[in-house]
Amino acid sequence: MSRYHEIYERWKADSEGFWAEAASEIDWFRKWDRVYAEVDGLDRWFVGAECNTCYNCLDRHVERDRGGQPALIYDSPITGAERTYSYDELLEEVATFAAVLQQRGVAKGDRVILYMPMVPEAVIAMLACARIGAIHSVVFGGFAAHELATRINDAKPRLIVSASCGVEPGRIVAYKPLLDRAIDQSDFKPEGTIVLQREQEAATLKPGYDHDWAELMSKARNEELKADCVPVLATDPLYILYTSGTTGVPKGVVRDNGGHMVALKWSMDAVYGVDPGEVFWAASDVGWVVGHSYIVYAPLLHGCTTILFEGKPVGTPDAGVFWRVISEHGVAALFTAPTAFRAIKKEDPGGKFIERYDLTQFRTLFLAGERADPDTVKWAEEMLSVPVIDHWWQTETAWAIAANPVGLGTLPVKYGSPTVPMPGYDVRILGPDGKEMPRGELGAICIALPLPPACLPTLWQNDERFRESYLAAYPGYYQTGDAGYMDEDGYVFIMSRTDDIINVAGHRLSTGAMEEAIANHRDVAECAVVGIADQLKGQVPVGFVVLKSGVNRPTEEVESEVVGLVRDEIGPVAAFKSAMVVDRLPKTRSGKILRGTIRKMADHEEWSMPATIDDPAILDEIAAAMKKHGFSI
Ligand code: COA
Ligand code: AMP
Repeated sequence: MSRYHEIYERWKADSEGFWAEAASEIDWFRKWDRVYAEVDGLDRWFVGAECNTCYNCLDRHVERDRGGQPALIYDSPITGAERTYSYDELLEEVATFAAVLQQRGVAKGDRVILYMPMVPEAVIAMLACARIGAIHSVVFGGFAAHELATRINDAKPRLIVSASCGVEPGRIVAYKPLLDRAIDQSDFKPEGTIVLQREQEAATLKPGYDHDWAELMSKARNEELKADCVPVLATDPLYILYTSGTTGVPKGVVRDNGGHMVALKWSMDAVYGVDPGEVFWAASDVGWVVGHSYIVYAPLLHGCTTILFEGKPVGTPDAGVFWRVISEHGVAALFTAPTAFRAIKKEDPGGKFIERYDLTQFRTLFLAGERADPDTVKWAEEMLSVPVIDHWWQTETAWAIAANPVGLGTLPVKYGSPTVPMPGYDVRILGPDGKEMPRGELGAICIALPLPPACLPTLWQNDERFRESYLAAYPGYYQTGDAGYMDEDGYVFIMSRTDDIINVAGHRLSTGAMEEAIANHRDVAECAVVGIADQLKGQVPVGFVVLKSGVNRPTEEVESEVVGLVRDEIGPVAAFKSAMVVDRLPKTRSGKILRGTIRKMADHEEWSMPATIDDPAILDEIAAAMKKHGFSI
C-alpha cells in the first residue's frame, strides 16, 4: 500500500508543519523565525534561518563518522580515469579551494561562473562557493562563447573557473578559446580566471589574469589554508542557473540555501527511496539542473555516494557502459534522460550487454528531462526487471513536481504519465479563461502559489521578469510552460510546451535564441526555427530561412553557414543540423509566423489550415523544401 495519499493530504492540511518537520533533517546555525513568509512580494521559506549548504553536504557527515565513506566516484570512460573521494577527502579539497577563492577576493554574495566539463573539480568548485557563501553559476560545456557571454553579462561574476578542455567522442573541445571569446564579447569583465589544466590538452594562460588551478591549490595546501563554512541566510542565493526562455536572453533561475536543502533531502528518501550510504547515480551533467540537484546536492545532503560520469551511454566504449558502472560501483538508483535509453536500445535492442553484468544491487531507474515514451519505458522495464519511474520537473523547481514516490510506496504505473503531484505542489490544469479544466481535458499546467521549498523565489535581479514569465498569465498560480491534463485518478500527463522551448536529447533549448543567432547572418532577412520529432533525441531543431532580396548565392552555401553560425553562437548542444532556404514563411495576416503548423505538418500530426493564414500556398512551399532536404512529409 502506498502512503502517498496520506502524506499528500498531511501536507495539504498543514504545509508549514510539513516542511518544518522535513527541516529537522538539516543542521541549522540559527532556526527560522517563519517557516514561510511573503517577503517583498516573493514567497520565501525558512525566513530568518542561518545555515550553510556545504556544511550539510560534507562537514556534518564527517562529524558523524561518515568521513571514510566514498562521497564521490569519478568514472570517466572517455578518458580512462577513475577516482574515489571519501567524505574526508572531498571536504579537504573543497575547504582548500574555498580558501583559494577567498584569496582571490571572492566573498559572500559574489558570483563565480563555472564553465567546466564533468570532472571532480567542477563539484569541488560548486561546494567551495557554497562554503563561503559565494553564488555559483554553472554554464554547460556544450554552450559556446555567445551563450557564456550573456551569462557573464547578467551574473557579473568576480571570477570564472574553467578547464582547458572537455572531451567528447572523437574530439577535444578546447574551452579556453571559448572562454576568452566570451570575456571579450561581454560588457562585464571578471577580475580573472582559474583554469584546470587537463592532461588531454593544456590551455595558454595569460599571466596575471588566468591562474592555474593546480598551482593555486598546491600553494594553499603548503600554507595549510582552509576556509570555514560561512553562515548564510536560508533565503540567500546558493546558485543561479540559466535556462532557456522564449528569447535569446536566458533566465537566471535563483536557488536559495535553506528551502533547497530541505526539499532535496526529503526527496532522496520519499521520491527516490534511497538510504544514506547507498550509491546514487544521476547520469546527467553538472551544467543542468539534474546535475545540480542529483549529482551534487541531494545525494551529498543525504550521505550517499554520488557518481560523476564523464562519458556517453553509447560509444564510450559501448552500450554496456551504464551496466558496467552500476555493477562496478553497486549503484542502487540511476537517474537519466529517456534519450540515453533510446540510444542504448538502438545499439543493443536485445539487452546483450545487460546480461554481462551483475546488477543485483540496482533497484530503480528514474527518467526525467523530457517525455518518457511508453516504448522506451517498457523496454527498460523488461530488460532490467526493476521499476522504471518517470518524473516531471524543471530547472525552476529543482525537484520533482510529479513522480511515483518510491520511498512512500509506488502507485500503479500509467504509461505516458509521470504519475502524481508531490507534496508541496498543488497542480491545476487551467483553461485560457483561468478556470480549471475538467479532468481529462487539456490545458496549461499550473501550480497554485506558493511553490514549495527549493523552487525559484525569483530570477536573478529581475523580479519583474519573474512575475511576467511565470505569474502574470494566471493570477495566484505559477505557470509551468507545459500543457497537459490530469485524469480521474489525479495522474498528470505532460503533452507539450506552451512556448517556443524545445527539448533536444533532454536538453532544454530556445528556438527563439536560435532564430536570433541566425538573424545575424548578413544574407538572412527572416527565419523560423521549429522543433521536429526525432526518434533518438525526442526533438531536433530545423531552420527555415528567407534571404534578403538581391542575394543570389548558392542556397547550400548559406544553409551550411547558418548551421555553422548556430553551432558557433549557441553551441554544439543545440544539435542544429538542418537549415533550408525558402522563399517565404507562412504567417497569419497579422504577421505571426505559423511555427506550430509547420511542426504539425512535419510530425505528421493532424493539422488544419489556420483561418488567419496570409497565403495557404506557402505551406506547400515549406513541405516541398522539407522533402528536398530529405524529410518525409
Ligand atoms: N561539451 C561540448 N560539447 C558537447 C557537450 C559538452 N559537455 N555535450 C554535448 N556536446 C556536443 C556533442 O559532442 C554533440 O556534438 P556533435 O554535433 O559534434 O556530434 C552535440 O553537442 C550534441 O550532443 P547530444 O545532443 O548530447 O548528442 P550526442 O550525439 O553527443 O549524444 C546521446 C546522444 C543520446 C547519447 C546523448 O544526448 C545523451 O546521453 N543524452 C542524455 C541526455 C542528458 O543527460 N540530459 C541531461 C538532462 S537529464
Ligand atoms: P529543464 O528545465 O531543462 O529540466 O526542462 C524542463 C522541461 O522538460 C519541462 O518543462 C518539460 O517540458 C520537460 N520535461 C521534463 N521532465 C519531463 C517528463 N518527465 N515528461 C515530460 N516532459 C518533461
